[in-house]
Amino acid sequence: HLACYASTQAPETAVSESFELADIDWEGLGFGLIPTDYMYVMKCDGSGNFTNGKLQQFGNIELSPSAGVLNYGQGLFEGLKAYRKHDGNILLFRPEENALRMRNGAERMCMPSPSIEQFVEAVKDTVLANKRWIPPAGKGSLYIRPLLLGTGAVLGLAPAPEYTFLIYVSPVGNYFKEGVAPIHLIVEHELHRATPGGTGGVKTIGNYAAVLKAQTAAKVRGYSDVLYLDCVEKKYLEEVSSCNIFIVKDNVVSTPAIKGTILPGITRKSIIEVALNEGFQVEERQVAVDELLDADEVFCTGTAVVVSPVGSVTYRGKRVTYVEDGFGAVAQRLYSALTRLQMGLSEDEMNWTVEL
Ligand code: COI
Repeated sequence: HLACYASTQAPETAVSESFELADIDWEGLGFGLIPTDYMYVMKCDGSGNFTNGKLQQFGNIELSPSAGVLNYGQGLFEGLKAYRKHDGNILLFRPEENALRMRNGAERMCMPSPSIEQFVEAVKDTVLANKRWIPPAGKGSLYIRPLLLGTGAVLGLAPAPEYTFLIYVSPVGNYFKEGVAPIHLIVEHELHRATPGGTGGVKTIGNYAAVLKAQTAAKVRGYSDVLYLDCVEKKYLEEVSSCNIFIVKDNVVSTPAIKGTILPGITRKSIIEVALNEGFQVEERQVAVDELLDADEVFCTGTAVVVSPVGSVTYRGKRVTYVEDGFGAVAQRLYSALTRLQMGLSEDEMNWTVEL
């Protein structure tokens, strides 16, 4: 795709300078949309150049019924978080990784994408404009949701002639209704999330619609979410609907290797590095479903879920349990190391955080 140029346009709407906290109940935040003040919108025509990005009042957007994203699913999303530190400063975690992943996804989905710099600057602008919605330290984070959408009109199947990059944000707490309690997973062996050569390895919107059926059925049966297997041998772990999966056995932390059907999670990648630093052996490889039987611990990682302990996994009617409540020792160690870094409570030796 053609290069895109950074825009330094002034916001369309003057951004409030007041940094008073928003007047909401900051206790017990979950993971539902709380609309905030501003969103960021930047468009790109057929030339591939994103220009004229602007903050505007958060609200509905107008789309042609014939927009590529509505008709053929030409869309990507990202997710990252901003934390408020005790000193009032704000930390982003590895935003350029999200920018890069969006660019990789855009290439797969035949879309032009903002440059890394445009993406990161837009994230910063959006977070600062919505500063009063960042939860107080220790109460949660501001979830940042960048979208890249084929908004131009099409009828026949083709890449859209126009694209929109948009960022909105929402204060969030725990992703799962279990809070920090362990989640319960069921292994799905009929429906699949991704296929070799497909789009499982990019964050395209359709991947998430595709898991709703299995996820809904699992929730009706009292499970928190679904763990997917590879669709060829139906034997190897892939990921959970909204997060990556890790198993622990002795000093070894293993996770399915990235091979096109698994989302390359930024939390996944960070936990691997944290685990190595903490002295664990880490293996990215094929992880057979049978290994769940004799794992010491299982946990999930993702931007939204952070690190979530798995209390049990059920596979073909057999339930294996790991922890009753709280974290296993290894997941706890990795969770603490990662979140202390993300919240600015420990020294950022990796240079992963961006302070605003
Ligand atoms: C995230 O963790 O940011 C995601 O994109 C997962 C989403 C289903 C909430």
